[in-house]
Amino acid sequence: MHDLIRKFTETFGPSGFEDTIRAVLRAEVEPYADEVRVTPLGSLVAVRRGTGNGRRIMLAAHMDEIGVMATYVDEKGFLRFTPIGGVSPLTCLGARVRFENGTLGVIGSEKREDPNKAPTFEQLYIDVGATGRADCPVRVGDAAVFERPFAVQGRRLVAKAMDDRIGCAVLVETLRRLGPTPHEVHFVFSVQEETTLSGARTAAYGIEPDMAIAVDVTGTGDTPESRPMAVELGKGPAVKVQDAGMIAHPVVREWLVHAAEAAGVPYQMEVLERGTTDAAAMQLTRSGVPSGCLSIPCRYIHTPSEMVDGEDVEGAVRLLLHALQTAC
Ligand code: CO
Ligand code: ZN
Repeated sequence: MHDLIRKFTETFGPSGFEDTIRAVLRAEVEPYADEVRVTPLGSLVAVRRGTGNGRRIMLAAHMDEIGVMATYVDEKGFLRFTPIGGVSPLTCLGARVRFENGTLGVIGSEKREDPNKAPTFEQLYIDVGATGRADCPVRVGDAAVFERPFAVQGRRLVAKAMDDRIGCAVLVETLRRLGPTPHEVHFVFSVQEETTLSGARTAAYGIEPDMAIAVDVTGTGDTPESRPMAVELGKGPAVKVQDAGMIAHPVVREWLVHAAEAAGVPYQMEVLERGTTDAAAMQLTRSGVPSGCLSIPCRYIHTPSEMVDGEDVEGAVRLLLHALQTAC
């Protein structure tokens, strides 16, 4: 799956600017789906029809990533910017960003009273090599993503936008390997998760699933002096019990647990105290959709070097394949 993960993580696609990543995903799913369409807000839906009396199941991974947006160009050609999604100023200093038109920018800081203290966004700017407004290749409202290549280090995979292109890779791989299933499965690659969850929310309304599962990253508690959390990298995909935005539906949660055990996939139970996923929005559509989440443990979430374990990724695919071939 490394080629797929490299392609997905290195592609441009901040929230609201998903055209490029959607085209890349579409090309990967089209040969394996019975139907592919795009929702009015831009989420990509690949449908695999069921063979029998199954349920309608929605799987969602978000295709958007965090980034920055230009808010102002000054007379010397420097850009001011605002974050798209949960970006920290701590990860900005010295970072490179890439705009949709290919322009590369370097993030610099004004002088600060205490240089050891993190800057605020107001103190940061992007240098695109312009000398004034006239030769600045970026306009107000243009978006950029952090520039960092995909890398493999033993079992660990490192890239920007693992959140949630790794979920997209899990969905694509699951669709490719999926044999006949009783269920009608909707593989949804949602837009704007990092800002409003609006892609999955509206896609779920249209699909009317009997059950929904988000596939997204979750934090870990296995790094030096980290916030205590029972999830570790390399111990298998995590079945979400609760996060800051939702409690997983017990039927979905147990379906995933049974699938893991039946497929012989090591798994972990997850309680995430900060952050949420598309599942929080999907469960609140129409009269309510029983929803849960299968998580890929990830270190350094929302930095340009998000790290996952390749075995956890493979385990997530095998778990989903087993679940989709059994009743729920
Ligand atoms: Co995120
Ligand atoms: Zn995410």
